Amino acid sequence: MGIEVERVIFDKIFNEARSVMNSAYAPYSNFFVGAAIITETNDVFVGCNVENAAYPEGTCAEAGAISAMVAGGSKLISAMCIVANSKKLITPCGGCRQKIAEFSSSKTLVFMANTTGTFNSCSIQDLLPGYFSNNFFKN
Ligand code: THU
Repeated sequence: MGIEVERVIFDKIFNEARSVMNSAYAPYSNFFVGAAIITETNDVFVGCNVENAAYPEGTCAEAGAISAMVAGGSKLISAMCIVANSKKLITPCGGCRQKIAEFSSSKTLVFMANTTGTFNSCSIQDLLPGYFSNNFFKN
């Protein structure tokens, strides 16, 4: 896929991810994250990180967006954009890579962006080589 085609897809979800980032509940880390998914059917779902005084109970932005997608009736991520209030381009945590993999195909694009709109893109295979999937249930 060419960079121009990727840019068109990125533009469809970057603003949604950046906007929901501002809704993050991150009083402990002060690290605000937003995620937006576009599905094969062009539906968009968003999520933000939601922290908790019991620290391990906090949830990532990607997990929130995936929950919204599944609740909304979709199960295939066409592209996902993740943005944080950081100059660096954020990468999904290990657990979220596995969660993204569950609802990805080899064509799924993961965009990692900062608030100025600079981004990198990659596939889930790039992020989590050899990931565990339901393929292993089929001997
Ligand atoms: N966080 C995300 O929401 N997504 C990521 O990919 C990395 C980290 C959140 C979790 C926590 O609320 C804060 O960022 C700092 O780790």
